[in-house]
Amino acid sequence: VIILGIETSCDETAAAVVVDGRYVLSNIIASQIPIHERFGGVVPEVASRQHVLSIDKVVSRALSEAGTTISDVDAVAATFGPGLSGPLLVGTSFAKALSLASDLPLHAVNHIEGHLLSVWLSTDSESSAPPELPMVSLVVSGGHTELFTIHAPGGYERMGRTVDDAAGEAFDKVGRLLGLPYPGGPNLERAASEAHPNGFILPRAWLPGTYDFSFSGLKTAVSRHVARLADERASNAPLPPRVVADVSYAFQESVADVLTRKLEQATRDTGARSAAIVGGVAANEFIRAMASERISVRLFTPGPGLSSDNAAMIAAAAYWHPRIAELSDDINPNLRA
Ligand code: KG4
Ligand code: ZN
Repeated sequence: VIILGIETSCDETAAAVVVDGRYVLSNIIASQIPIHERFGGVVPEVASRQHVLSIDKVVSRALSEAGTTISDVDAVAATFGPGLSGPLLVGTSFAKALSLASDLPLHAVNHIEGHLLSVWLSTDSESSAPPELPMVSLVVSGGHTELFTIHAPGGYERMGRTVDDAAGEAFDKVGRLLGLPYPGGPNLERAASEAHPNGFILPRAWLPGTYDFSFSGLKTAVSRHVARLADERASNAPLPPRVVADVSYAFQESVADVLTRKLEQATRDTGARSAAIVGGVAANEFIRAMASERISVRLFTPGPGLSSDNAAMIAAAAYWHPRIAELSDDINPNLRA
């Protein structure tokens, strides 16, 4: 079964062709990062218009790089939510038109479910079977920080979530505080890799007895620390790179510590047979390394290009948990997994 996936829930225009929910023939992602960089974040109106400009080319490229044409495709899948309304409408409308014109079934996919099922996609290095269930999966992105038990594709139990900022959002906000370029996540990870860990520790919000997360206190702690440093130097000039590196390291360590301990705890408490970290923040090597040190069951992370928003995970989700949509079906910006 060949599925063409389309993803436009935020600032990536993405299309992909996936066979049997496992084999990625193409995975095209047109990032709008350079466009949103000057605003320091995603502007929904700007993102919507950019999707309109790109989507046709992105879909054509996904088909041609896969060595397919639309007549080889068995179904079209698009993200119906959660996400930004304007961007979602561009992708779903394009997918509806394509399915109508090519007489193909259309699948409505939940973006979070796409992230959860992204580890069902095979990476070149391992051709082994899909994950053993139940699996505990941590979705960490710019918009979400949620912990699920997956009993089956389509059978999800939410165990915890952030009570304030998403982990990726915290990376982005702290990146901005430290004067790092947008988006904060990858740039902060790069800065932290230059650190000389010196015992400087930032707080952790444990929210004991729950699988919930909180990152706003940590962000405030960084903000206070940066203000104190500015006072000491009697200057608002950019912080020296060494200081930025050390604060980045301490921040990343605090986030990684909480995320991986809660994932490990949930894995043990549920007797899960596998664990996963998915979503944009799952690209973080420091977090991956700490998780694989702490977790005793097999740990899955998305392959290259499959952590951040992409359409291969949307096609995979449509295969493993099919949901046929009508042409009149609405988007749902607030959809939950
Ligand atoms: O999944 P994603 O592409 O979009 C959402 O659905 O939100 O996640 C984007 C988020 C951003 O906040 C970005 O800063 C973060 O993932 N991110 C990272 C890394 N790469 C991306 N955070 C930490 N370390 C990284 N290497
Ligand atoms: Zn996402």
